[in-house]
Amino acid sequence: MRTHYCGTLDTSHVGETVELNGWVHRRRDHGGVIFLDVRDRTGLVQVVYDPDTVESFAIAETVRNEYVLRMTGRVRPRQEGAVNPNMATGEIEVLGSALEILNAARTPPFQLDEHAQAGEDVRLRFRYMDLRRPEMQERLQTRARIASVTRRYLEDNGYWEIETPTLTRATPEGARDYLVPSRTHPGEFFALPQSPQLFKQLLMMSGMDRYYQIARCYRDEDLRHDRQPEFTQIDIEASFVSQQEVMDLTEGMLKCVFKEVLDVDLADFPVLGYDEAMRDYGSDKPDLRNPLKFTDIADLMKEVEFQVFNKPANDPKGRVVALRAPGGAKLSRKVIDGYTDFVARYGARGLAYIKVNDIASGPDGLQSPILKFLPEEVVAEVLARTGAADGDVIFFGADQANVVNDALGALRNQLGSDLGLSVEGFAPCWVVDWPMFEEGRDGVVVAVHHQFTQPSAPLEEVISNPLSVRAAAYDVVLNGYELGGGSLRIHRQEMQAAVFEAMSMGQEAEIKFGFLLDALKYGCPPHGGIALGLDRLVMLMTGTHAIRDVIAFPKTQSAACLMMAAPSQVDDHQLRELHIRVRAEH
Ligand code: AMO
Ligand code: AMP
Repeated sequence: MRTHYCGTLDTSHVGETVELNGWVHRRRDHGGVIFLDVRDRTGLVQVVYDPDTVESFAIAETVRNEYVLRMTGRVRPRQEGAVNPNMATGEIEVLGSALEILNAARTPPFQLDEHAQAGEDVRLRFRYMDLRRPEMQERLQTRARIASVTRRYLEDNGYWEIETPTLTRATPEGARDYLVPSRTHPGEFFALPQSPQLFKQLLMMSGMDRYYQIARCYRDEDLRHDRQPEFTQIDIEASFVSQQEVMDLTEGMLKCVFKEVLDVDLADFPVLGYDEAMRDYGSDKPDLRNPLKFTDIADLMKEVEFQVFNKPANDPKGRVVALRAPGGAKLSRKVIDGYTDFVARYGARGLAYIKVNDIASGPDGLQSPILKFLPEEVVAEVLARTGAADGDVIFFGADQANVVNDALGALRNQLGSDLGLSVEGFAPCWVVDWPMFEEGRDGVVVAVHHQFTQPSAPLEEVISNPLSVRAAAYDVVLNGYELGGGSLRIHRQEMQAAVFEAMSMGQEAEIKFGFLLDALKYGCPPHGGIALGLDRLVMLMTGTHAIRDVIAFPKTQSAACLMMAAPSQVDDHQLRELHIRVRAEH
């Protein structure tokens, strides 16, 4: 039906007769000549119909936006003055000789050029219209390329793509499960996998050696701009590997993807210890485009009278930090009040600060509401430790450690952009040496990554003092997002049982993971792996902030599909077959 795609035409085609297919992006009537901007997935081209071609011109008069056309015409250079430098095909146009309407279109629910004015609900409901926008098409094309380069890289490294079931039983990644009722087993349910974790480990026990899968995962959790209830992982597992080998493979893969898709050379990823990341950035996923770091000052504040500081300084769960922002002394009172409200959203009860106007003048060169509460030598030590210079502002956070980390971590991000301190581009890093466990609600011990992660401590310690144990776990972080996480896995049955015991799982472990404990007894190789969020990777590589922008048919914030109207009610007959009765909401 066509000889060329619209967006591929240029001056090298001048004089050629071409056949094009596409949608009417815009139609302009200019004193007897009709201009159609015609669009396909490669871009736009201008096709001109003049009244000499009587029949085609008459048809051109009737077309409207989003009509689907088949056109024949001759490529010609645009007249001087009519060249459009903003358009890839702006040096040429096609003089139309034939025109056929393949399909008409109703007035669109929103004009593609004016999508920003349309509510997101409308765009999601008419997703097939929204996806016609060049920007959306480019993102999905980039996504396809990322997946393709990933596959090739892993295959070149000896990885086999193996599919794993999506009708399975609950897989533990900490979120709620999506359940699927069984017709043939009354009262029983499948769960959709939160990840292929157990299957990939079982594949290692099956001797597959190197596995990968671009795998769909399902998690019923609270959604954010970087989370969807169904999302895709680049899931990797290998046998007889060290942590370093998994990290090298992953880093090599990301470098290859960035080079081939964006022509960006990523430098070697810095490796941060978990403790170091929390100490310097208050976050286990620091954005390293931002140079600001925390300075711990609790030791200086133990004796001061200022209660706001001395209380957390003397509390083992407390933290007192200073955050120096170069050039921040120019921030107005109003802006700083704004930051105080901002950190309050993260639970901070205030935001003390010192502006450093003239460090050589001692206390007179400083400006701050808290100077009166602090001994001069303590202030001097804070200035020295933070490396303060004239023109800086130092902010303070003092509270429970998690509040300080969240609040000043968020402020760090904000200051990085407000003061123009953050650099452009991509700043990946590794975070390693994670704690194996943490205290969950009601004081129970829960795994920080998951309970199949290899603890870096002997079995006895895992049972006797779990909260002190570290794990062979590693996260890859990009621009402040957790891009992926992985670990070496437990490959000995006794250690796996010890971890379940540390988590007080008792009988539950046997019921839920008996098959795994069994499998570990039959010759399980040491193994490890990682999973990267493909959607997040595409989101970062295409420079958007919404994961919905890189998924063809995403769910809303409330986990619904507006286009298909899913989830939906089903009829009684179907429910009865599934042995389900719906309870009335109270
Ligand atoms: P984890 O739970 O860290 O690890 O998931 C790996 C990566 O998947 C992405 N991700 C998400 N992306 C979009 N929406 C979500 N709701 C969502 N949840 C997670 C993140 C995350 O880093 N089985 C382990 C991996 C392993 O140990 O090999 C796992 O699933 O980018
Ligand atoms: P207050 O004595 O509560 O008026 O606080 C004196 C100064 O300390 C003000 O600038 C507050 O914003 C600041 N401040 C209060 N609580 C905290 C906190 N938890 N962390 C940091 N600064 C605080």
